Amino acid sequence: MVASTLSKTVSILVAGTLGVIAAPAPALVTRQTISALSSSQIAAFRPFTFFASTAYCQPSNTLAWNCGANCNANPGFVPVASGGDGSSVQFWYVGFDPGHNSVIVAHQGTDTSKIEALLTDANAGMSHLDASLFPGVPSSVEAHSGFASEQAKTAPSILAAVQKALSAHSSNQVTLVGHSLGAALALLDAVYLPLHLPGVSFKTVGYGMPRVGNQAFADYVDSHVTSLTRINNREDPVPILPGRFLGFHHPSGEVHIQDSGVWDSCPGQDNTSNLCTTGDVGNIFEGSTSDHEGPYDGVEMGC
Ligand SMILES: *[C@@H]1O[C@H](CO)[C@@H](O)[C@H](O)[C@H]1NC(C)=O
Repeated sequence: MVASTLSKTVSILVAGTLGVIAAPAPALVTRQTISALSSSQIAAFRPFTFFASTAYCQPSNTLAWNCGANCNANPGFVPVASGGDGSSVQFWYVGFDPGHNSVIVAHQGTDTSKIEALLTDANAGMSHLDASLFPGVPSSVEAHSGFASEQAKTAPSILAAVQKALSAHSSNQVTLVGHSLGAALALLDAVYLPLHLPGVSFKTVGYGMPRVGNQAFADYVDSHVTSLTRINNREDPVPILPGRFLGFHHPSGEVHIQDSGVWDSCPGQDNTSNLCTTGDVGNIFEGSTSDHEGPYDGVEMGC
């Protein structure tokens, strides 16, 4: 890590300590308990883990579904569209998974150093969601400006590809996946797509997802986004960024992979139990960046 990033990070952490003390009580109170997933529940995520990893492959390869182990892990997949250049626009692809009778939308992430630089940039503010893309979403709902502008770049192409895939396969289900920045984009798609596709059911699985928006965003997600799971690996610091003291909050739906390999379901938003990421990874120095890529049940993210 370069010195300038480090000093910026240190000042954020100092502010963060103060912010945590002053943090208001979480909006959502839940009486559920933290519980371990069964091995079959863990195994059920595996196809989605590979779909998220596949998003790191070149669009020409995902469109041909010819990308080695990642593609081979979901052999029946029928690609419909892909895009992105891997720098100004993250790779993405859309297709149909006959096994789950679901359209899949996947977004590429970034490497750990890039996402950390993006997320510890204290100047990266939040903004309202674009009213033409997100009609009817209250103006109190704000998201990280960088994530929102990135999602806007691919939104129309992804919506068109999803509509095409749903009708071509007479499907009524869409599953959104992504890792890292890709998980943040998947979450924004999970807010965006249902506004344009009434009657379709949605499921979202994000890996190493950073915080995407403010408290109103997290609450909106909890009440509108059905079936969200955020899978966080061990001491990965990305899910604790950007800091809550900057006004960012996670929605519910965390599954935390413990150092022991147990997968625990964590109720509520930003659960501060030490079994959950917000409680376990107190600051980025307690984090281990290598945990960001995985393994998630044996799968390392990347093509
Ligand atoms: C964290 O999980 C526990 C269950 O063990 C629950 O009682 C608590 O309300 C949760 N905390 C938050 C902030 O949601």
